[in-house]
Amino acid sequence: MDTNEFYNKVIIITGASSGIGKDLAFRLARLGARVVLAARRLEKLTELKHQIKESGGEAISVQTDMTAKDQVTHLVDTTLNKWHRIDILICNAGQYIQRSIAESNQSDFDRSFDVNFYGSYHVVRETVPHMIRQKSGHIVFINSLDAKKGIVGDAPYVAAKTALDGFADVLRQEVKSMGIRVSTVFPGRVDTPMIQDLDVPWISRKISVAKVTDAVIRGIMKNKPVIVVPKLFFPLGALNDTFPRVMDWFYHKFHLEGSHRNNAKGNQ
Ligand SMILES: NC(=O)c1ccc[n+]([C@@H]2O[C@H](COP(=O)([O-])OP(=O)(O)OC[C@H]3O[C@@H](n4cnc5c(N)ncnc54)[C@H](OP(=O)(O)O)[C@@H]3O)[C@@H](O)[C@H]2O)c1
Repeated sequence: MDTNEFYNKVIIITGASSGIGKDLAFRLARLGARVVLAARRLEKLTELKHQIKESGGEAISVQTDMTAKDQVTHLVDTTLNKWHRIDILICNAGQYIQRSIAESNQSDFDRSFDVNFYGSYHVVRETVPHMIRQKSGHIVFINSLDAKKGIVGDAPYVAAKTALDGFADVLRQEVKSMGIRVSTVFPGRVDTPMIQDLDVPWISRKISVAKVTDAVIRGIMKNKPVIVVPKLFFPLGALNDTFPRVMDWFYHKFHLEGSHRNNAKGNQ
């Protein structure tokens, strides 16, 4: 793998305190990037920042609740004050908010949209003008295969991730002529704290975080607009558009919704 692509690049990673974001931050710093770690749990960010520095990398941490617009502005301002540019923005922060539609309240959807959609929107809105001035940049969305085929009980999460997919699709076209690239990553189930209480069937078994971060790093280097991991699921969206009832049957038959241990529901 040619690692020069990331050397000295300034990369903001939201949701860097855990799971995919944490691994991406560590690996990109190992490739020479200057990483900006954002999430709510400052102690986790501080721990990661020290680990990165001990292994010879450069990192700063900025405690940020992505649902609070003023904190997102502070994140971008802090990055620019420190390193004067933003080369890559990785919109990764997310929460798995589940509720059956019959039992749901608007607040379930509001909470999901606040973090899974607006959390990304705000940071993109703050970052794009700087990337336009630089005439370069790469924005990466960590979405979910759930945006390609909804899972029962997951409507708040699926709705926000599907909205984010449409947003990224338009953004990619709007900023292309300004030298800005956009990639969306659609992982299947990943072995992270987000779904640690969820048992899933073999057909959608949890993949390792490293498999996702490998795919993200490769996808950025190749400027792929769409990154599906595992690759096997690439045709999922097209299959669901063409044969929705067959896909409903398949998801039902194989219990792709999984089952929660201890009746825990989602990452609240
Ligand atoms: N795990 C999966 O199966 C799976 C599958 C497909 C897609 N994804 C997506 O992958 C991304 C990363 O998830 P993960 O699996 O790595 O889960 P994770 O280990 O639970 O990490 C989620 C990250 O998001 C951050 N976060 C949550 N709410 C936030 C907020 N309001 N403001 C700032 N940061 C916030 C968390 O940090 P703090 O709590 O410290 O704020 C944490 O760093 C998410 O977008 C998720 O939807 C995950």
